[in-house]
Amino acid sequence: ADEPLVLGIETSCDETGVGVVRGHTLLADAIASSVDEHARFGGVVPEVASRAHLEAMIPTVQRALKQAGVSARDLDGIAVTAGPGLAGALLVGVSAAKAYAYALGKPLYGVNHLASHICVDQLEHGPLPEPTMALLVSGGHSSLLLAPDITGDVRPLGATIDDAAGEAFDKVARVLGLGFPGGPAIDRHARDGDPASIAFPRGLTGGRDAAYDFSFSGLKTAVARWVEARRREGREVPIADVAASFQEAVVDVLTRKAIRACKDNGVDHLMIGGGVAANSRLRSLALERCADAGIRLRVPRPGLCTDNGAMVAALGAEMVARGRPASTLDLPADSSLPV
Ligand code: KG4
Ligand code: ZN
Repeated sequence: ADEPLVLGIETSCDETGVGVVRGHTLLADAIASSVDEHARFGGVVPEVASRAHLEAMIPTVQRALKQAGVSARDLDGIAVTAGPGLAGALLVGVSAAKAYAYALGKPLYGVNHLASHICVDQLEHGPLPEPTMALLVSGGHSSLLLAPDITGDVRPLGATIDDAAGEAFDKVARVLGLGFPGGPAIDRHARDGDPASIAFPRGLTGGRDAAYDFSFSGLKTAVARWVEARRREGREVPIADVAASFQEAVVDVLTRKAIRACKDNGVDHLMIGGGVAANSRLRSLALERCADAGIRLRVPRPGLCTDNGAMVAALGAEMVARGRPASTLDLPADSSLPV
């Protein structure tokens, strides 16, 4: 009963997420998304996202508290994503969190978005062993992180040097005319395709250079060229085969590098998070390769992998539980926060 009760606010991209957590127990996860407003632009438009956050903020907080069946007065803290993310979008969440913290007299916890993607797994699978290795793949990030302490020491081992993994899914989906966001559509079509039918390139797998970095831009271009060539010849584009072959190229590299990072660093746990962690082939290949390597795999359910408020609340609760210092009311929104 004395586990910390924390409300978390997430506005780093296009989801206004507000979660309520008690210790490792999820009590509420309310979300308002502006994804439909961005669809016609084929990507997230920062100004549109900021305005949508502003409109959704107070109703989403109210909805989360109601869902959790708790009073704001009983909270032990307000956690908020301080970065990285879109500057204007972050600012809406940080300002709201400060206002609530000040008005309610509660401590404020500014958290790192990527660390909260890792911590959310505690809501599903209990305490995370430390150090933990994390592969975070979404529309905005593709990072390998070594986390000796999820509340304060999360070290980037590698990241994408061009497109994020989810971005590659979205761009290839656009080439195939599958709409935005493209990840779920590619995942679906790939089930009917042959992943070995087209040999697409695996970026940055040549040597030990950039051993943990990723590159998906060459892959995206290769897929676009392949599809264009087919169209020029007036032949039908085998969407399922292209989707499956592209998807295989992405998840092959992601899982290979994540497992190598675990082995090189003597870590026997891997967690995968971010929107792309919802990908069914990534899940099955990671499971297979982790089993072969003697690594325990933890992947939260898809609803917790995409951006949400519960993950922020989860990290906030962990900070309260470990007695980490609260942020001051001049906490900045920092779009370029490391990690
Ligand atoms: O974490 P998220 O909701 O937002 C951020 O980008 O931070 O991730 C969204 C990304 C999009 O690029 C979307 O296409 C991708 O995750 N995604 C998927 C799947 N579901 C979502 N990619 C591959 N397979 C999926 N099943
Ligand atoms: Zn994210």
